[in-house]
Parts: sequence; C-alpha cells; structure tokens
Amino acid sequence: MPWSAVLLSALAVLTSAQTNSPTNNNLDDAQRFLSDYNARAQEVWNAYVVASWNYDTNLTEHNNGVLLEKSLALTEFEAEAYVNKTSFNTTGFPDDVIREFDFLGSAPQEGDTARRLQETLSEMGRIYAVGQVCDQDDPDNCRELEPGLTEIMATSRDYEERLWVWVGWRDAVSKAIRPHYVTYVDLKNQIARANGYTDYGDQWRWKYETDTFEQDMLDIWEEVKPFYLQLHAYVRRKLYDVYGDKINLRGPLPEHLLGDMWGRFWTNLYSLTVPFPDKESLDVTPAMLEQNYTIMRMYEVSEEFFGSLGLLPLPSRFFERSMLQRPTDREVACHATAWDFYDGEDFRIRMCTKVDMEDLLTIHHEMGHTQYQMQYAHLPLVFRDGANDAFHEAVGEVLALSAATPQHLHAIGLLDTVPDDPDADINFLLLQGLNMIATLPFSLVQDLWRWRVFSGEIPKNEWNKKYWEMKAEIVGVVPPVERGEDQLDITSIYHVANDFDMIRYYARTIIEFQFQKAMCDEAGITEPLYKCDIYNSHAAGTKLANMLRLGRSRPWPEAMEAMTGQRKMLANSWKAYFQPLYVWLQEKNRENGDVPGWDVNWRPDASSATTTLPAILLLLSSVTGLLLFA
Ligand SMILES: *[C@@H]1O[C@H](CO)[C@@H](O)[C@H](O)[C@H]1NC(C)=O
Ligand SMILES: *[C@@H]1O[C@H](CO)[C@@H](O)[C@H](O)[C@H]1NC(C)=O
Ligand SMILES: *[C@@H]1O[C@H](CO)[C@@H](O)[C@H](O)[C@H]1NC(C)=O
Ligand SMILES: *[C@@H]1O[C@H](CO)[C@@H](O)[C@H](O)[C@H]1NC(C)=O
Ligand SMILES: [Zn+2]
Repeated sequence: MPWSAVLLSALAVLTSAQTNSPTNNNLDDAQRFLSDYNARAQEVWNAYVVASWNYDTNLTEHNNGVLLEKSLALTEFEAEAYVNKTSFNTTGFPDDVIREFDFLGSAPQEGDTARRLQETLSEMGRIYAVGQVCDQDDPDNCRELEPGLTEIMATSRDYEERLWVWVGWRDAVSKAIRPHYVTYVDLKNQIARANGYTDYGDQWRWKYETDTFEQDMLDIWEEVKPFYLQLHAYVRRKLYDVYGDKINLRGPLPEHLLGDMWGRFWTNLYSLTVPFPDKESLDVTPAMLEQNYTIMRMYEVSEEFFGSLGLLPLPSRFFERSMLQRPTDREVACHATAWDFYDGEDFRIRMCTKVDMEDLLTIHHEMGHTQYQMQYAHLPLVFRDGANDAFHEAVGEVLALSAATPQHLHAIGLLDTVPDDPDADINFLLLQGLNMIATLPFSLVQDLWRWRVFSGEIPKNEWNKKYWEMKAEIVGVVPPVERGEDQLDITSIYHVANDFDMIRYYARTIIEFQFQKAMCDEAGITEPLYKCDIYNSHAAGTKLANMLRLGRSRPWPEAMEAMTGQRKMLANSWKAYFQPLYVWLQEKNRENGDVPGWDVNWRPDASSATTTLPAILLLLSSVTGLLLFA
C-alpha cells in the first residue's frame, strides 16, 4: 500500500466528528498550514524532549509528572494537526507537500489512552533503568546493568556465575515488565488501528515504505545464513573447550554464555575464539589505559574522525549539555542514546561511558546519530529523521568500520604495528563477525516475534514459549534453564522495554557495508573492503553528507541510490567483506568434525538425560526432532 492509501483507509475508519471532509485543495492554504504546523511543532516537540531528557537523566517522580504533562500536550497537538489536515484534498499537490501531509499528526484517541500509554512506557523504562542483581552469598552487594553486570557477562568464564546473573536480571526486569507489556501491546495496537494500520507491527513495518519489507528481510537472511551457521558451529566448539559437557556439539548454544546479557553481540567471546592467538592482540583497551585515555579524549578522537571527512563539528554546548558518564548523585537510564531537541542547535548524547575499545566504537555509533541529526536540521520537522531507521543506525557504524581497522588504530597510536598477513586478517574478521554476523538472527527474531504478537498470531499465554521456540529454530540459542509464562524474556533488553523496533539493527548491519563500499570507491581505495579506512577522505565524507541531508524527505530508495547508485538493500558487500572468514570457517569446522546446524530440541537441562533416553524416544527424535540446517 502506498502512503496515500494508508491515509485514505485511516480516513474511512474515523467517525465524522474526528475529521473534516477533504474539500480544500488550495495549495497556498496547504502551505500556510504546514508552515504554521512546523513552527509550533518544533516548540511542542522540544518541550517533550526536554522533559524526557530530564526524566531519563534523573528518574524522580516529579520529573515523571512533568514528562507525562508534556507527552499529553504533544499527543493533543498532533491529534489537532491530524484533524486539521483532513480538511485538505491533496490530489495534485507537489510530492513533497503530500509527503509532509502523510507524516504529520496522529489520529485522536478516545478517553485516557494517551495517559495510560505514557504511564506504561515510563514504568517499563524505570523498571529497566533501576534493575539490579545482588550477590548470591551477599544480598547487600547489588550490581546495576552498567557497569557491574555487563562486566561479568563480558569476562566471566564461570558457568554458574553467569547463570545467576542471567536469571537474576530477568527476575528483576522482564518478569516485572510483563504485565505492563500486555497493556503496552493493547494500547499501541489501538492507536495503530485508529491511524489505519492493521496493528502496531504493521505500523512499524510501514516505516520502511514497502509492502515486501518482511519478505525482503527474510530473503537477506537466506543469503547470510550460511555464514552464520559456520560461525555458530565454530563458536560452539570453542565454548565446548571452555565449558565441556555443558555444551552439546550438535546442539544450540545456551544464551548466557554468549558474551553479553542477551547474546546480542558475541564480541566478548573473542578472547576464547581467536583463531591465531599468537598474533598481536587487536584489543586496544590496554593501550588506551596505558595512555591515560579519558572519556573526553575518546569523544575528541571520534570528533576528529568525523572532521577528517569534512563533516559537521559538534555544537559548542554539546559537551556541557550531554551526560557522558554515570552521575553518582541520582538514578538515571544509562543505555547509550543520541538526542535531537528539534531546535536546530541542541543535540546531546547520554552514555555511561567506560574507557575501553568497545565504548570508543560505541561513541562513533552515537556520534553518527548526532551527525545525521545536524545534517537534516534544516528540514521541516516531519522530515528530520533517517531515510529509515536502519539508515540512522548505519551512519556511525560505517565510520566505525574504518575506525576499527588495524590500519586506523595504528594511525592514531593505539596499535604498535599494522599486522600484515592472512592469519592476522582472519583474527580481525572473526572479531568483526562476532558482532556483525552473530547479531543478525538475534535482531531478526526480536521483531519477527513482536510482529506476531502485535498481530495476535502468538496468543498471550504462549508469549515466552514461542519466543524461545523461534530463538531455538532461527538463532540456535536456548535458555540455560526452563522458562515459564510468568516471564517475558524478550523484554530484558533496553529496546524492547523502551519501545524501539530492532529490525533497524538487522537492516543496518547489511546496508552499512553497502555504504562503506560506496565511500571506499569514492575515496579511491582499492584494497579489500575489510581493510578500507576512509579517514581524511573529503570525497567520501561529501558523498555521505549529501545523503544525510535528505533526512526522510524522500523515500529511502532515493537516499540509497544517491549513496550507492542503486535502490535496494543488498547483502553483496556484507558477503564480500566476510568471504575470507567464511572460507576459513568452513575449513576449520570440517577439520574439527563439526557440522553446522543444531538439534532444535536440545536443552541444557536435558543434556545428561539424552544418553539415557529409551531407544524408542531416541529413534523418534532422530526422525522428527533433529532439524539440522545444511
Ligand atoms: C533531579 O530532579 C529533582 C526534581 O525531582 C531536582 O530537584 C534536582 O535538582 C534534579 N537533580 C539534578 C542533578 O538535576
Ligand atoms: C487547527 O485548526 C484550528 C482552526 O483553524 C486552529 O485554531 C489550530 O491552531 C490548528 N491546530 C493545528 C495543530 O494545526
Ligand atoms: C480530490 O480532488 C480530486 C481532483 O480535484 C477529485 O477527483 C477527488 O474526488 C477529490 N477527493 C475527495 C475525497 O473529495
Ligand atoms: C599516565 O599516568 C601515569 C600516572 O599519572 C603517568 O606516570 C604516566 O606517565 C602517564 N602516561 C602517559 C602516556 O601520559
Ligand atoms: Zn543507535
């Protein structure tokens, strides 16, 4: 469905009391309406973002009250704008005017829907932000997600300790969120339907402006899956070397062993999976500590990278307004985020920064958001957004692709030498793959599950069960202990608890390589894609900036075309980047006798039981259960 059709069907379901008849087709009136909307929307949005910031960086009841008030004012304003726009018949107006009409406003809601939604969102956000896990032997010794629990999940090789943290976090957070999530799903669906979508998942997918979006994402998955299966089998062998019989060499992986709280990125498994451990380490954290890196220095390094491409500098008050480390005098939400205050000059980052390599790259990621926000600040309000959310997530990541190369780390003094042999290349590509191969099915399932929940296809009494079934089948990852319907494990991650879709991270992981290829070509770099560092290339920077300046004013395929010369999301550059690793993994797995794929029915608890199962059961499971992916 094109956007105008969405709009028309929205009109059809609304009662006449909430809309006008679309009779006004005067372009001057329409443009006056838009410029009035933009002038006022900027103020209303700014007040809402300020209140959100004040709450998120200082979680008090008072600040929550102010946020509720500003959120309701925003809802009311957008509803009024929506009703006003329905008096126009936009047939024959210029495309960009029609596009602005399509995006602005939101259908009025009955009763206290808006208030209940804001209260629900605030509560889920608060539960997530203040979640803690206390020590097994010392209940007074409690840790927050950042930095304490994150640190354990990044470094511990103690199966039981990791299990304690994994279960404890879910008891503290996602179990408490579950009742609110039920309300959230109901209210979001109600609002989506009033706006002409079939449900909230439909609304989310429409942000990508194509009616084949889900299929496009699944098609990409088929292309990249062989790489994932090889990585999965290789990592399984390495986990077996550490955890022994806890790992089944034909089974899926227990989620709590994968290097972070969710198995989202496996980067922290690098030390136990490094293919050639004798080569120089690619972890520059020790060098950063040795050189007395500060948080400020890390931001300067990142800003200098953006500057080297001729991109925009940060506004002068960025550093005094941002929150770049965890304050000690109050409760805050810590998850790294980049904020646009919609006044054209106030942009901030919130991040509880640690001095290490991971956060140095995260800073590039957040600064990519900020750069995008600054580049499109001149546009009408509804166009101040990414071409789609995946574009927004890709910007900083593209720069991080260059910044993470050994070539670049050497250039900025964090690596002594540039390792230059094929073994070192495989080490580097594995490090990248633990992030950018491993995370793909994770992100995909996060939204496949939510799309099916919003549509009602997954019934409420099977929410958690179906989640783990999808994880076992698609990701090859299972919970370390049995889970029940009093839990809702998917909400244990920031994005789900805080109303962000995650398909954006899936799509961005693909398109960032398309962007990187285009920028490396523009910079005249002919080395393999994984060695390309666009540092100091104004040509590459200009190409990027021209795309960023479009914001959401044009459908994303046009932004894609401006950048890459064609209009689709394609996995070919991603595959080219990882090809040498793919070849190496196939060889290594064959050598180890490891078969990619897994028995979807294997669970950690049942591991010792499988050997004693009656023969008849074993026979059955080999026929129906053993679903190996080739
Ligand atoms: C946090 O918010 C309270 C209001 O609830 C305010 O009095 C206090 O000054 C704020 N603290 C900071 C550091 O902004
Ligand atoms: C909607 O139209 C009314 C009547 O013309 C006007 O007073 C109001 O400011 C408009 N509001 C918005 C948000 O466009
Ligand atoms: C909008 O205007 C066009 C062209 O003037 C007309 O054909 C169409 O019927 C109008 N639509 C509505 C819903 O009135
Ligand atoms: C880092 O700080 C330590 C202790 O203050 C100092 O001895 C050392 O010289 C510093 N290193 C660098 C590279 O500045
Ligand atoms: Zn992001």
